[in-house]
Amino acid sequence: MYEQEKRLLAEAALKHVKNGMVLGLGTGSTTRLFIEVLGNWVQDGGQIQGVATSDATAEQAKQLNIPLLSLEEATHIDLVIDGIDQIDRQFQVLKGGGGALFREKVVALMSREVLYLADASKFVHHLSGPLPVEVEPFAGPYVEQRLQEKHLVFTLRQQDGQLFVTDGGHLIIDVDLERIQDVRHFAQELKGWSGVVETGYFERQPDHVLTVEQGNVRQLAH
Ligand code: A5P
Repeated sequence: MYEQEKRLLAEAALKHVKNGMVLGLGTGSTTRLFIEVLGNWVQDGGQIQGVATSDATAEQAKQLNIPLLSLEEATHIDLVIDGIDQIDRQFQVLKGGGGALFREKVVALMSREVLYLADASKFVHHLSGPLPVEVEPFAGPYVEQRLQEKHLVFTLRQQDGQLFVTDGGHLIIDVDLERIQDVRHFAQELKGWSGVVETGYFERQPDHVLTVEQGNVRQLAH
């Protein structure tokens, strides 16, 4: 539905890319379009090195001959370009709809700059979720028990009739945030529970957000 906006954002994001950069490559349908654009730029002689935030992104980048570095090989990351699920007026961001939240967050935390691409559907007054919570499988029942004790609504993520498993071998519990007033505080609390690997609340806020208004790309700065 927002395909056209995503494409405009993908093309605009390329203007932020400079020769020689180490670029964090996000995950999801918006980033997928950006990586297509980036692949064409590389084919025309552009020179960057990418750090992928998921196996799917790494696969796409390889097919487009975009050079990749592992996190160990990258001495630094200049800029990460990624999509988001929700953003509020304070620039608080939820991610992880595609299940790549853990690597996306680590790459964002390491990056000098963070640029998010957000079509109009991503802007909200209050982060309503779902908040993806990545859990080590053994601890899944424990985390579910704690969520039940807090009377929260949640679902264990499935895909094609099977449990969804992240690139890191973890499960995802999607938590409805309707009863949660302070999402930041709740995300911090979750990180203290045994077995919680990461949440989709991104403490590292973006330096820039690109969005589309009346057919034009607009840059929002925090
Ligand atoms: C992947 O885990 C997510 O964080 C995505 O970046 C996010 O869901 C945005 O996806 P779309 O670009 O497909 O909307």
